[in-house]
Amino acid sequence: MLSTDIGIDLGTASILVYIKGKGVVLKEPSVVAFDRDTNKIKAIGEEARLMIGRTPGNIVAVRPLRQGVISDYSVTEKMLKHFIQKAIGKRTFKKPRISVCVPSAATEVEKKAVEDATIQAGAREVAIIEEPIAAAIGAGIDITRPCGNMIVDIGGGTTDIAVISLGGTVVSTSVKTAGDDFDEAIVKYMRKKHNLLIGERTAEEIKIKIGTAYITEDYDEDDEEATIDIRGRNLVTGLPKTVTVTSKETQEALRETTSQIVEAVHSVLEKTPPELAADIADRGIVLTGGGCLLRGLEELIEEKTGINTMTAEDPMTAVAIGTGKFVEFLSDDGIES
Ligand SMILES: Nc1ncnc2c1ncn2[C@@H]1O[C@H](COP(=O)(O)OP(=O)(O)OP(=O)(O)O)[C@@H](O)[C@H]1O
Ligand SMILES: [Mg+2]
Repeated sequence: MLSTDIGIDLGTASILVYIKGKGVVLKEPSVVAFDRDTNKIKAIGEEARLMIGRTPGNIVAVRPLRQGVISDYSVTEKMLKHFIQKAIGKRTFKKPRISVCVPSAATEVEKKAVEDATIQAGAREVAIIEEPIAAAIGAGIDITRPCGNMIVDIGGGTTDIAVISLGGTVVSTSVKTAGDDFDEAIVKYMRKKHNLLIGERTAEEIKIKIGTAYITEDYDEDDEEATIDIRGRNLVTGLPKTVTVTSKETQEALRETTSQIVEAVHSVLEKTPPELAADIADRGIVLTGGGCLLRGLEELIEEKTGINTMTAEDPMTAVAIGTGKFVEFLSDDGIES
């Protein structure tokens, strides 16, 4: 009988499920909507995300993993169960082996909580994997060699920076500045500069459509500047108002937040032993996570560190793939059952 082996990237922004032999089969936002009066869950995933900022008083849409930690355990457990069942369906006879990658800021207690929730959800065995290791495997790096690799995983809630060699993390840091903070910075900027109140989903839309971390000097001559029309509430009149935002403005809005990430990369490089630092200078820095899709971030990090920087092939699925490959690795080594 077949046992399905599964890798799960339990991220603050999204959850991805990878099944051995099938690849990434599920990708949904880590959002749960529930009824505050009855405490019943109304929707999970994409359906719940659409409710953010649009719910009547008694329905609340929450992101239970918000700051890279599990802020609401029982909701996380239900969400995890829902996605595991959705991904494997009802066809399996044997309980799967599941490895889960948790946000690196998770404490031992939280890791145990995820492990328990995964068992509850029907796993036979659970392995908890460190996010940078999973990201590196998913980005196609051979982590087993005695060679330094730097991986910068910019998610929704946290940016994890790690130097990996011989299958382990040598130096690392995790900062609570990532994709969601880009959105927040845009909300603040719009309020200050345009007296416009916008929600976080609108801010994310601006970021994805025209946001940029870096503008080259010859930008104005070569490019027609990207703009987007945004509707929000005029803070002075209280009425709806439309404002045209340019990508140059987003760079201004994002400057402080992106520098925090660059500084964190710097601090890890400073703590890296010289031989490994030399390897990194040779091989470059690899970016993963949805946050690294912000235009110009690669160029910004490259300019500020002087080290060649590249984005992994599919940065948003790298962690899930890496977590799944870790399962394959376990099963090849085979504790046969
Ligand atoms: N095209 C894009 N351009 C810029 N940002 C993007 C793009 N697509 C997604 N993002 C951002 O990526 C972030 C989510 O990334 P990801 O799914 O890797 O996070 P996560 O793994 O759930 O979070 P974490 O690793 O912090 O737990 C969000 O902030 C989202 O707005
Ligand atoms: Mg992640």
